[in-house]
Amino acid sequence: QTGLITLDPGYGNTGSCESAITFIDGEQGILRYRGIPIEQFAEQPNFVEAAWLLIFGRLPTHDEYRGFAADLTRHADLHEGMKHHFEGFPRSAPPMAILSAMINALSCFHPELFELEDPERFRMAAARLISKIRTIAAYAYRHSRGLPYIYPDPQLRYVPNLLHMMFSHPYRQWDCDEAVCEALNLVLILHADHEQNCSTSTVRMVGSSRANLFASCAAGVCALWGPLHGGANVEVMQMLEQIHTGNLTAEEYVRLAKDRDSQVRLMGFGHRVYKNFDPRAQMLGRVVEGLLTRLGREDPLLDIARRLEEIALEDPYFIDRKLYPNVDFYSGIILRAIGIPTNMFTVFFAIGRLPGWIAHWWEQNQQLDNRIARPRQVYVGEREHAYLTMGQRF
Ligand code: SDX
Repeated sequence: QTGLITLDPGYGNTGSCESAITFIDGEQGILRYRGIPIEQFAEQPNFVEAAWLLIFGRLPTHDEYRGFAADLTRHADLHEGMKHHFEGFPRSAPPMAILSAMINALSCFHPELFELEDPERFRMAAARLISKIRTIAAYAYRHSRGLPYIYPDPQLRYVPNLLHMMFSHPYRQWDCDEAVCEALNLVLILHADHEQNCSTSTVRMVGSSRANLFASCAAGVCALWGPLHGGANVEVMQMLEQIHTGNLTAEEYVRLAKDRDSQVRLMGFGHRVYKNFDPRAQMLGRVVEGLLTRLGREDPLLDIARRLEEIALEDPYFIDRKLYPNVDFYSGIILRAIGIPTNMFTVFFAIGRLPGWIAHWWEQNQQLDNRIARPRQVYVGEREHAYLTMGQRF
């Protein structure tokens, strides 16, 4: 069972393709990675293991997992030459701009990994990218704060190392909270792939021209940045903050979101595929409750989110349009509880989605009918007419 739609020999002409990575049933709210329901990752969430599953098609054996984890540890550092690039960005630079630029810059330091056919070189490129995206994200954060870069610690596992590079100080290591690391592993897993969404389709489109993995994923970052896509998790927090600061009540905001002329949307609501519920939103709603409880914290924004959900789920406007909370509705509250600043939320979405992009890029490169994507159009412009000299124009 694959995420098969219809096949078109031209591929890009109809925008549909065959893939065996992720299966979604939007009516039933089903999401499976390589056949495994995402709910089954919640017990012992391990993002590195899920990344291997998506990319290589099955769960890793113990030795495969240890080898992959060791590669991620080994390749966490950035070339010292890359660090200077950060200094060229203004402190106010959007982290997603830095992320896409620096992922693309990785292709300057690893040209030997451009080989598209060699599985071993692909595995090395994938490991470097999954490992280094953490370092790039952390350094973008440190640069925005004028803080010294914290080098990766080879003793730490994937998620703790990311948080260490973000929040440690030169002489005081970030205190690794198990509850936080477990929650963040699951958040990253729930973002890891989602079949032919906008950013993954972008990676496949760019990769279809035989562009290298780094360049293709850099393009995916740019697509994810949009507020209708991965950027929605930032918009959700701004919406909740706006209600929290008393500018608008939840009821008033919902009223605005129903008014087409307002240009306001209930951010974190709606989905092109899910028409009953987004299973990820349901799981993230449970994660945020559990995390806040284990941290002994409360967040007024969670209460506002719950209120918005309650109002919208009883409102015919949302019911008739099958608009329900999506993956972005609760993810921001979890990241905020962990201490991630709002402007880094979409970067964390990208860290989660990277294994999915890599899996799709490789899957497409291995397909025999991998032709360059070339969507067709319906021309609705001017009919043929003559060129007018400047004197003839008015
Ligand atoms: C992600 O594709 C993926 O899988 C994406 C993703 C992934 O994992 O990769 O799941 C991640 O991008 C999740 C979506 C995050 N974006 C948001 O939360 C932004 C708010 N949501 C909407 O902009 C919208 O719901 C979309 C973009 C998610 C889906 O857009 P569609 O399918 O193109 O729906 P539409 O814009 O055509 O809307 C249909 C109707 C319209 O009203 P009418 O014309 O019928 O009167 O529903 C209304 C829309 O105005 N509508 C909303 C709404 N979403 C749709 N009205 C108010 N609030 C909303 N959030």
